[in-house]
Amino acid sequence: MDARAAMCRKPGAERSGLQEWGVRDANIKLLGLIVNLGYGSRKEVTRMFREGRITDKDGYVLYADDKVPHARVRLDGQLLDPAPGLVLMMHKPLGVSCSHKEQGRLVYELLPPRYRRRRPLLSTVGRLDRDTSGLLLFTDDGVLLHRIISPKAKVAKCYEATLAEDLRGHEVDLFASGSFMLASEITPLAPARLDVLTPRRVQLTVTEGRYHQVRRMFAATGNRVVSLCRVSLGALVLGDLLPGAWRPLLLAECAQIFTRRG
Ligand code: URA
Repeated sequence: MDARAAMCRKPGAERSGLQEWGVRDANIKLLGLIVNLGYGSRKEVTRMFREGRITDKDGYVLYADDKVPHARVRLDGQLLDPAPGLVLMMHKPLGVSCSHKEQGRLVYELLPPRYRRRRPLLSTVGRLDRDTSGLLLFTDDGVLLHRIISPKAKVAKCYEATLAEDLRGHEVDLFASGSFMLASEITPLAPARLDVLTPRRVQLTVTEGRYHQVRRMFAATGNRVVSLCRVSLGALVLGDLLPGAWRPLLLAECAQIFTRRG
């Protein structure tokens, strides 16, 4: 134990002392917790402990094999990043890609580097094209991810689109029909709702996530999407989050994903 750590150590806070705090949910040792949050390698985080940088909320130094609930731990006096089970929403800007298979900048580069080292891994919930902006979720919860993207969940995805040509007038009924087929597909599209804002500005709400779906739907009517932005998922709206900005979602906001928009 180095001198600073020894001075800061809470009197009597040995392993049993931690248990006096009524800790039930702290099953993972702090070293593993902090490494898995991406703050550094085991060696680097071990050094942080030795330097006394990892404390409880009252400033008492903690140790690598202590088991303390995440919410009570501070690194350099700051709260840790959210624990696993994290859901983030981002306003994906234009020109960045969701797929590691594509070249160029990735959406992950808009998060702090340590978020890319987290375990379990943080991944996007579905994808938006490089040329599409708007509401994009990230999570490290595989079960939640599959629940959101599962066709069975029918989560409503609402896009605002600007079109190259005026609507012809048949699109609302065509998209709502449930029998509209896209080229090279073998099943018709589920009914989708088209709200016309102006002849070239629309909101389209779909419950599927087929490849380039919105662009292909308009292309099939002889039109072209000039700009595309996802504005909501279920009742969760992008709101005033600026392009490139992101924030963790609260539990109640996660529930909104599965709620119909009023
Ligand atoms: N539909 C598209 O065409 N592109 C997207 O990014 C999302 C939906």
